[in-house]
Amino acid sequence: MTPADFSFLQSFLKTRSGLDLAADKQYLIDSRLNPIVRKRQLGDLANLVRALRTGTDKALENVVVEAMTTNESFFFRDKTPFDQFRDTIVPAIAKSRASTRKLRIWCAAASTGQEPYSLAMIIKEMSGTLANWSSEIIGTDLSTEVLEKARAGLYSQFEVQRGLPVQMLVKYFEQQGEMWQLNPAIRAMVQYKTFNLLDSFSGMGQFDVIFCRNVLIYFDAPTKRDVLARMARQLAPDGFLVLGAAETVVGLTTDFVPMNGCRGVYLPTGKGAAAQPQLKAVNAPGLTPSSAMSGLSSAAAKPTPAASNVLPLTPSRFRT
Ligand SMILES: C[S@@+](CC[C@H](N)C(=O)[O-])C[C@H]1O[C@@H](n2cnc3c(N)ncnc32)[C@H](O)[C@@H]1O
Repeated sequence: MTPADFSFLQSFLKTRSGLDLAADKQYLIDSRLNPIVRKRQLGDLANLVRALRTGTDKALENVVVEAMTTNESFFFRDKTPFDQFRDTIVPAIAKSRASTRKLRIWCAAASTGQEPYSLAMIIKEMSGTLANWSSEIIGTDLSTEVLEKARAGLYSQFEVQRGLPVQMLVKYFEQQGEMWQLNPAIRAMVQYKTFNLLDSFSGMGQFDVIFCRNVLIYFDAPTKRDVLARMARQLAPDGFLVLGAAETVVGLTTDFVPMNGCRGVYLPTGKGAAAQPQLKAVNAPGLTPSSAMSGLSSAAAKPTPAASNVLPLTPSRFRT
């Protein structure tokens, strides 16, 4: 690929999805876009770039943007954020929203659904604490393809072996041949919508919790800063932002501050941050993890040795 074509793709992807493609990532272009070249019988990558440059083939543009996204996800990924959601975030909201009994959550890079469904299963397990509450989980992603899979709630043996405690598999999934399908009650707890984080959030409404994990890492600093500033406006003043293990607000924005003792959880500056001492002390009185939830061990957050030996059945872009 010529330097001019590579630099065209860099700026096309940055504008369309925020992806900050480093100069040493030529191999990603080759592995992700060559299948499109073959499928569309374009001959080579130069012809694909030529077609993109015309700006007239919207379907091709979308397929290229989606192909360049990394959709890796798994149930209860990294474990700790989900423990914190169950043990600190939900109990704090159960107190602060006791009069309205409403909980709104946004999973801003929902991918194939494992993250919003992990939250849905936790909420289901906490139905004692959240009795007669209405909870809404909105899962959004740029890619329509991954959201189709998320809506179906159908996962391979490999996917359910990654992070999902076996008690939860038995309780919430039904085996369908070689696949496992989440039961309709959990699926119905999540609404999915195609949405680009570069677009305006004005129609999204206000949320109590935003999970925005493992997507900001693909953006450059100005884009991260812009997304975080706009998220701050969608989050309740006493709400919670949860980022991925390799992500932080530090050095990017003063709209959020890290929450004491909860790595990866951020509070909006002002009211939320001022309430830190109480929040840190919050632990649901009398709330003990249910037996299914207690199966969430750190080992469960990683592929089992058996799973690690299984050849991935998913396309390469579903892996990191
Ligand atoms: C690595 S996955 C993270 C999935 C999940 N949050 C997790 O941590 O397991 C990143 C997701 O971000 C989505 N994405 C990338 N750029 C985006 C954008 N500009 N707007 C919305 N979603 C985007 C990708 O399609 C992909 O599904």
